[in-house]
Amino acid sequence: MTVISGTQLGDIHIEDGRVVAIDEAGKGALVALPGLVDLHTHLREPGREDAETVESGSRAAALGGYTAVCAMANTSPVADTAGVVEQVWRLGREAALVDVQPIGAVTVGLAGEQLAELGAMADSAARVRVFSDDGHCVSDPRLMRRALEYVKAFDGVIAQHAEEPRLTTGAQMNEGEVAARLGLTGWPAVAEEAIIARDVLLAGHVGARLHICHVSTAGSVELIRWAKSKGWRVTAEVTPHHLLLTEDRATQYDPVFKVNPPLRTEADVLALRAGLLDGTIDVVATDHAPHSVEDKECEWAYARPGMLGLETALAIVVQTMGPKWDRIADWMSAAPARIAGLTGHGAAIEVGQPANIAIFDPSVRWTVDPTALASRSRNTPYAGMELRGRIEATYLRGEPTVLNGKATR
Ligand code: DOR
Ligand code: ZN
Repeated sequence: MTVISGTQLGDIHIEDGRVVAIDEAGKGALVALPGLVDLHTHLREPGREDAETVESGSRAAALGGYTAVCAMANTSPVADTAGVVEQVWRLGREAALVDVQPIGAVTVGLAGEQLAELGAMADSAARVRVFSDDGHCVSDPRLMRRALEYVKAFDGVIAQHAEEPRLTTGAQMNEGEVAARLGLTGWPAVAEEAIIARDVLLAGHVGARLHICHVSTAGSVELIRWAKSKGWRVTAEVTPHHLLLTEDRATQYDPVFKVNPPLRTEADVLALRAGLLDGTIDVVATDHAPHSVEDKECEWAYARPGMLGLETALAIVVQTMGPKWDRIADWMSAAPARIAGLTGHGAAIEVGQPANIAIFDPSVRWTVDPTALASRSRNTPYAGMELRGRIEATYLRGEPTVLNGKATR
């Protein structure tokens, strides 16, 4: 029997991987949340183990309070076959820090030309239900339609990286005054919004599930709100960095702030927060994107886009959205688990439920030190920033993966 003492729910008693009792007499200041679920993680294995591995990314996830992560398909080789998704799934089982659920590619090699073996990935041991070419947009509308039709048969979902490539050629940061001043090619909001408009129409037409990755503009929020009002099966995510940071961070030309989609304006940030609050946006997902020093610490134009996210996500969400624990449990656990079809995750902490639990101490202040993170990479945009609140412990089916703020393996 394990007892987690002093949470806002009371003392939580765990046995055989499940919650067996909650003793309200033991109420305290620690916050117990259902184990977090990340719908959008880049683990880089196979292919770029210098930047991250399934094990190092899983450890970063556990330290962030996660009990499950969905691993994006843009590895090398690409996760576009049953063999590769099974490999990632098996590596996740071996690391045994979080449940690693592979996402399958939509198109062969992420090339956007030919549908990948969606059915074979769905039928594999990894039981893939989410498909995404993330990093690339499925820009051919006919291919997108066929992908939606295909996954409808097994209630899968296409997670779209919404970026019309013809509108972002050479883009370096958000299109606007700041880009003009810095002399960097702009990535216009319309490149995201045009694809979202097209794809919600396609999803409505086909009757299939569409998920929009890393929504970054006010116009996108409006389009998704409209699509939902039509009853179409559309869901969306926002990242912690798009909830906090703006394009102004680019002014020092520090590539740690280069990300795709780019950091936008204050008005966009406020619209994203409002969209999350009113339910237009369902999920906060990290888009944890580790990159090696060589790929990141170079001139802005040559740096790869992407930021670390797993170890800081919850503190950033609390900072930007406030300590709304029930909403946070929904945005960061229940909704992503539902979208990804992860039945063992996302449930509220109740007697009889699997003991997937994150314990957050909201009073701890800590300064982000890139060299102290569990990730193999250092590209956190929060280096040197003081954050409030930290994961104290994480339990995966009753087994601690993090205790006293340290990974147990
Ligand atoms: O910033 C990003 N990094 N956006 C993406 O879509 C891909 C990701 C990566 O794989 O590094
Ligand atoms: Zn993406």
